[in-house]
Amino acid sequence: MSILESLYKEIILDHYRSPRNRGKLASATIQLEGLNPSCGDELELYLDLEKETIVDVKFTGEGCAISQASASMMTEVIKGKSREDALELSRKFKAMIQGEGVSEELGDLTLLQGISKLHARVKCATLAWITLDQALAKDESES
Ligand code: FES
Repeated sequence: MSILESLYKEIILDHYRSPRNRGKLASATIQLEGLNPSCGDELELYLDLEKETIVDVKFTGEGCAISQASASMMTEVIKGKSREDALELSRKFKAMIQGEGVSEELGDLTLLQGISKLHARVKCATLAWITLDQALAKDESES
């Protein structure tokens, strides 16, 4: 493993061991559970959406290092973003995981680009993001 690869691995493991924005969010205006059907792992996403801005976000749930690191990094990039910008980041992240190009806007999330070659782990990496898409769509249909 190269020094760069081990650094990448270290950052992903750091998010897994010390997830950012983990826990329940009392002020959540949207709450949604996501499921990875291939392993049964669940993730609960809490969003505090004020007007069209995600002012706070947290998550709970269990899963592998990839799913937890992806969720942790996702909360960092979407906090403070508009609904539209968060959905655009989600689109870019899922495209990267499908091997369709990498956007620098994704920051540390680009460390997960190698997942595109591990088909069995794609659902792990996208669990939090698909839950985000569904949570924002659910909120829009109710408003
Ligand atoms: Fe369940 Fe990755 S193995 S989320």
